[in-house]
Amino acid sequence: MEASMPKRKESAKSLRIKVISMGNAEVGKSCIIKRYCEKRFVSKYLATIGIDYGVTKVQVRDREIKVNIFDMAGHPFFYEVRNEFYKDTQGVILVYDVGQKDSFDALDAWLAEMKQDLGPHGNMENIVFVVCANKAKVGVFSLNFVFQIDCTKHRCVDESEGRLWAESKGFLYFETSAQTGEGINEMFQTFYLSIVDLCENGGKRPVTNSSASFTKEQADTIRRIRNSKDSWDMLGVKPGASRDEVNKAYRKLAVLLHPDKCVAPGSEDAFKAVVNARTALLKSIK
Ligand code: GTP
Ligand code: MG
Repeated sequence: MEASMPKRKESAKSLRIKVISMGNAEVGKSCIIKRYCEKRFVSKYLATIGIDYGVTKVQVRDREIKVNIFDMAGHPFFYEVRNEFYKDTQGVILVYDVGQKDSFDALDAWLAEMKQDLGPHGNMENIVFVVCANKAKVGVFSLNFVFQIDCTKHRCVDESEGRLWAESKGFLYFETSAQTGEGINEMFQTFYLSIVDLCENGGKRPVTNSSASFTKEQADTIRRIRNSKDSWDMLGVKPGASRDEVNKAYRKLAVLLHPDKCVAPGSEDAFKAVVNARTALLKSIK
C-alpha cells in the first residue's frame, strides 16, 4: 500500500497531449520537429506523405509530458488525410516561410480548414497556437561576429508583420530556423509551458500579456497603413482633401498609434509613415 503511494502521485503529475503541425508544403514543419527531437537538420526536401506520427517525452515544471506529435503534410493533395487529425488537439505549431509571402497569407486558410473540420462544436479558443516564422535569418552574436545565419532566400515577411498577425489572435510567435536551430528550443519550451498552463487552467488558453496589450483597431490600422498605395490612402482621406481634413485624419491616427500609447508590433513604423505622409501632403496642398 505504502509502496504504491508515490506512483499514484507521480501519475497525477503526468500529462498526455496531442500536438499537430500546420502550414504550406515546404515551409519546414518536419525540419522544425526533427531539429527539436533529433537535434539535426536535413537540407534535402522530403515531403511528408499524409501524416508523420511520433511520441516524445518532455519535462515541464514538475510534470512529465507525453507528447503525441502529428506532423501534417502541407500539400493540398493530402487534405482528406489531414482532416481526420484535427480533433482533440491541445497545441498547434503553425509554420510559414519568411521568404514565401504566400505561405504567410495562407495561415488564415489553415485556421479555416481546422475550424471547418472541427465542426460547429469544435472550440479553437482552447488550443495553444504557436506561429513559427521559419527560415528566419536569426543570428547568435559573439565578439562582434555573427554566426549561424540561415542561408534562405530574400525575406519578404518581416518580424512585425508576422508578430502582429500572431499576437492579435492571442497566438505565440517565434522566429525560428530549423537549419541553425535558432529559436527552436525556446519556441518548444514556451509552447509546452503554455499547454501545461492551459491544462491546469481547466482547458482554457491562458491570456498572454501581448494579446491583451493592443486593440483590434490598432492592429487593423497598422495593416491598412502597410498596404496603402499612397499618402492620401495612408491617411484615409480622398485625393485633393483640404489641409484641415489631412490634419484631422492625422490627429486621429496619431492618437491611435503614438508609440507612448500603442505597443502593437509595427506601430512605430506605422506612426513614422503617417507623420511623413502628412508632411508630404501638407507640402503639396496649396
Ligand atoms: P511538407 O511535408 O511537404 O508539408 O513540408 P514541410 O513543411 O514539412 O517542409 P520540410 O520540413 O520538409 O522542409 C522543406 C525544405 O525546407 C527542406 O529542403 C528543408 O531542408 C528546408 N528547410 C526547413 N527548415 C529550414 C530552415 O530553417 N532554413 C532553411 N534555409 N531551410 C529550411
Ligand atoms: Mg513535412
